Amino acid sequence: MTQTSDATAASDVTAASGAGVASDAAVGGDATAAGDPVTAGPARVDLFFEPNGTRVRVPPGVTLFDAASWNGIAIDSTCGGHGTCKKCKVRIVDGVVPVSPLDSRAFSPGELRDGWRLACRVVTATDVRVHVPPLVTRPKAATVGVGRQVILRPAAQKRYLELDEPSLADQATDLERVLAAVDDLELRADLHALRVIGRVLRAADYKVTAVIVDDVLIDVQQGDTTGRVYGIAFDLGTTTVVATLLDLSTGTPMAVASMLSKQQPFGADVITRISAVMMDPETLGRLTGLAHESLNELAGEVCQQAGVDPADVLEVAMAGNATMTHLALGIDPEPLGVAPFIMSTRLWPEVLAADIGVSVHPRARAVVFPSFGAYVGGDITAGLLAAGMDRDARTRLFVDVGTNCEIVLGNRDWLLGTAAPAGPAFEGAAIRCGMRAADGAIEVVTMTPDRLELKVIGDAPPAGLCGSGLVDAVAELVRLGLLDRSGRLIPEEDALGVAPGLAPRLTQLGKERVFVLHWLGEPGDVAQSIYLSQRDVRELQFAKAAIATGWDILLEEAGLQPRDIQQVLLAGSFGSYLSPANAIRLGLVPRLPVLRVVSAGNVAGEGAKMALLSMRERAGALALLEEVRYVELSDRADFNDRFVEQLQFPA
Ligand code: FES
Repeated sequence: MTQTSDATAASDVTAASGAGVASDAAVGGDATAAGDPVTAGPARVDLFFEPNGTRVRVPPGVTLFDAASWNGIAIDSTCGGHGTCKKCKVRIVDGVVPVSPLDSRAFSPGELRDGWRLACRVVTATDVRVHVPPLVTRPKAATVGVGRQVILRPAAQKRYLELDEPSLADQATDLERVLAAVDDLELRADLHALRVIGRVLRAADYKVTAVIVDDVLIDVQQGDTTGRVYGIAFDLGTTTVVATLLDLSTGTPMAVASMLSKQQPFGADVITRISAVMMDPETLGRLTGLAHESLNELAGEVCQQAGVDPADVLEVAMAGNATMTHLALGIDPEPLGVAPFIMSTRLWPEVLAADIGVSVHPRARAVVFPSFGAYVGGDITAGLLAAGMDRDARTRLFVDVGTNCEIVLGNRDWLLGTAAPAGPAFEGAAIRCGMRAADGAIEVVTMTPDRLELKVIGDAPPAGLCGSGLVDAVAELVRLGLLDRSGRLIPEEDALGVAPGLAPRLTQLGKERVFVLHWLGEPGDVAQSIYLSQRDVRELQFAKAAIATGWDILLEEAGLQPRDIQQVLLAGSFGSYLSPANAIRLGLVPRLPVLRVVSAGNVAGEGAKMALLSMRERAGALALLEEVRYVELSDRADFNDRFVEQLQFPA
């Protein structure tokens, strides 16, 4: 569909999945902190990957390489996207992508004309269709998280063994025979392995595969099955659950699947779900069962997509917030929901995949991410691991934007963390025309004084406004001056002078001021239309003020100024879809050059992948618990005053 400048027309929409989507110029320019860091309106771009047919939407600034990696599409690389290996060759089939200086060295002029580019150098401002050739390098390392290069050292491994048959002269037991052949590891045996070992050794003529997770022999299989070692990384979100199947011997993502949490009927947020358990203890069993169903269905789906036998999945990892983790493990979350907000434990004991309802290898292990506290959970531990917050020399700010916003500031020498209750504005729940980021949700809003342009998820007519659309709409209204710094929609008569084409959208619904984003129903019928109300703007201001107060206090604790932050990572299922420029414009993040603010993707899921691929990284997640100093905001006498100050939008 096309855009229009007609303030009352209904065709101000672009379907986000449609081909040839028109989008405004991407945000660019490394402006100085003193100047206006925002050089253009918001945009998100569609990337279509061939031959696997995956379409993803990303904010500006995300490289093709990262977008592919976050969505389970393997692109060759040995440098992890740092521009040194020149292996990440892809062909742009449709769309315009400028040639980078590195491209000119990696490709001939003919290849460049044919669309060949290095994926880690491609940051596109328009939609593209890209062909990804098959992998040619058998990797020893995988690129995961925020450009992290992880040396493959999974806990799950297989060893093919050709053993001597026992005799009267050789009386070693079946187990001793296997353990002696794997003498570089100090193994102990799982009961399951002992149950099968005698039969398997004899049936397979003593040519068997030892199946090992960590230091435990969990199985013995006939013949050589070493080519089949898989793991599944789960991001167990409150709203959405995502599973990624990984080939643990190569680090290659094989398939990704996601679904809405089956716990949704018990409430959109963790507090409602905790309340449901408090009111009826039987609910705990139901919520646990629903978490298991979600995880297991996704496990089945990714295995089916990749043609992998679930029995070859030897380990899974699960990153979730503290409440979701408690529920998945069948532990009463009530103490998390009432002061003083105590978890049952920070570290989890040995857990099997079967304990969280996942039907893979019967003795497969489950790595469950540890939590810092009731409101800084395992999803954040995984996110910090994926972002390498404790490895990077640069001072960085990690902001996971959601109902509860987790904020971590620091570098490899020190880390400070806090949690700010941002409320449900970003989920769309507290917004009059709000909805989840599903088909029909307005996710991008762009305005000029004369016209308004919407981008809608899916090939669907606009049905409501999701969190990123809300942020865009408010940021654009502030930029044009239709909202003043205090968050008040300006009077209609003033709007004519500021944005004549948009002034008719600024109107009244009952006693409330509203701005109509998309007209529906009879001409001028505001109630049937999709609009942003004055109260919606207030909800966003509260959320923004909570987050900004959080990072402002962390900066003060560290004795730093905003300009000392070298990179801001916008994380989480909502944060990674925010336009960095608009996050700056609203004051959600410090006023910095826009290129310092980057989308970090689904870092919780990435951290879970890292834990499966590397024992070292898994240990790093545990170490993080000691490295982050938690700053409690509610202890601060000045919190309220600072919160009120932050309600204003930046000048
Ligand atoms: S990933 Fe190595 S050059 Fe692009």
